Amino acid sequence: MPLARPVVLGNWKMNGLKADGLALVGRLAARAAHPSGTLGVFPPATLIGPVAQRLSASRILVGGQDCHQAESGAYTGSISAAMLADAGATAVLVGHSERRHGLGEDDALIKAKAEAALAQGLLVVLCIGETEAEYLAGERDLVLTRQLDHGLPEGATPENLVVAYEPVWAIGTGRTPSLDEISETHSRLRGLMAERLTGGAEVALLYGGSVKAENAADIMSLEAVDGALVGGASLDADGFWSIYTAGGGA
Ligand code: 13P
Repeated sequence: MPLARPVVLGNWKMNGLKADGLALVGRLAARAAHPSGTLGVFPPATLIGPVAQRLSASRILVGGQDCHQAESGAYTGSISAAMLADAGATAVLVGHSERRHGLGEDDALIKAKAEAALAQGLLVVLCIGETEAEYLAGERDLVLTRQLDHGLPEGATPENLVVAYEPVWAIGTGRTPSLDEISETHSRLRGLMAERLTGGAEVALLYGGSVKAENAADIMSLEAVDGALVGGASLDADGFWSIYTAGGGA
């Protein structure tokens, strides 16, 4: 079965120590241990174990923010998909722009990471998005098509893959594309996914980039938007919950 909608995922990035991370997920679990949609948190790697344990009686997903493409080996500082799963994660983000642009990850590497994650049974959240220069040059569609063509993992299905469209220039800036632009981009992505995967039209498509309680309802009411990938606003349990309910979750 494809994931229950809305799909609202919180990427904590490099934020959170044990006490506040556990308090945050405790407040979320108190709201809905068994959410009607798909609700997930992506804490820093150090907190995956404790957060997964805290949420073990709930259906709130816990995921990693990245994984290495190899199963194990001499890769100092890296974490494999098997390690994420072992710590209690059931999902992982790959291709986040802060890794593409901050750390030079390319589509081939992102695809390898996604395939390593699928091999461990993790739900892959593949992040794609154009930079501001690409947006201004009218290259958005070209970039997104390239990122999908080279980054989509073999073996992806609507059950094990989510695609998150995050324009790089909208991340952490308070700026978002217009609703018409989001709608147009997501409809295009829906078509691309349908062409590239069996059942691809069922893959959940999330919007990410400056999603807040104030704009979440408008964005998630767009027909081609199945949910949101939330950064800063996911660090507050009440705010994150408001975003989830704005998308129709309970
Ligand atoms: P913000 O919601 O802070 O803009 O971050 C979005 C993001 O990068 C989620 O992965």
